[in-house]
Amino acid sequence: MPKTVLKVGVLGSGEVGQTLATGFATLGHQVRMGTRRVRDAKAAAWVKSAGGKASRGTFAEAAEFGEIVVFAVPATANLDVVRAAGPGAFSGKLVIDATNAIDESSGQPELALAGEGSAGEQLQRVLPDARVVKCFNTVAASLMFRPDTVFGPPDMFIAGDDARAKKRVTAILKDFGWPSVVDFGPIRSARWLEAMTIAWLYTANAKEDWGIGWKAIS
Ligand SMILES: NC(=O)c1ccc[n+]([C@@H]2O[C@H](COP(=O)([O-])OP(=O)(O)OC[C@H]3O[C@@H](n4cnc5c(N)ncnc54)[C@H](OP(=O)(O)O)[C@@H]3O)[C@@H](O)[C@H]2O)c1
Repeated sequence: MPKTVLKVGVLGSGEVGQTLATGFATLGHQVRMGTRRVRDAKAAAWVKSAGGKASRGTFAEAAEFGEIVVFAVPATANLDVVRAAGPGAFSGKLVIDATNAIDESSGQPELALAGEGSAGEQLQRVLPDARVVKCFNTVAASLMFRPDTVFGPPDMFIAGDDARAKKRVTAILKDFGWPSVVDFGPIRSARWLEAMTIAWLYTANAKEDWGIGWKAIS
């Protein structure tokens, strides 16, 4: 049982939503998974597997529930999800943005929201009363909780305007198994974290290895 039990809303029931929701639940926190469909089979299966402290609901119900709210939908859907939940549901809260906006229509991955600066900046703009921290977007879902590579945990990278929010995320990351957290500075730097994902995709495709993470070495 953690010292403080957090209430976490996770928006999205895909690979990332399930992984992060499972991470929080495994650490003893209360998690509600939000989805666009009331009958979401993935969310229902997750609640069953995660046990007593897990629940599910609409985006609005999950956002309302969480003192921390995690975005785990395609970044191009973030604004729809904010509209569905209602911006007020995020007021004063820590919002963890794990999303990427990837456009592969040219046959090569590119940033779909570059015109907005980044998905992280867009989210902070539409949620001015929330404290958005970009995090988790630079690794595959399989590494997000208790990452394990032959060289140990890679580095995790974060960006956000609020120092206290980033401190809180850093503490959560330690619990998730990320001892080394690199702070890129304000949410404006989310554009570079999102660009790192494109570089990650090129690297993973070239190496045919999707279990890779970034680590600064010297
Ligand atoms: N997968 C990874 O390894 C990875 C790593 C880092 C970051 N990310 C980023 O994390 C986010 C989630 O990735 P994922 O792999 O978990 O995606 P996913 O498996 O495709 O799941 C996406 C979730 O978002 C929902 N969704 C999709 N389109 C939506 C829309 N227009 N409006 C509302 N909800 C919508 C889906 O609901 P339905 O089931 O109803 O479609 C599902 O619950 C993405 O931004 C992705 O780029 C992924």
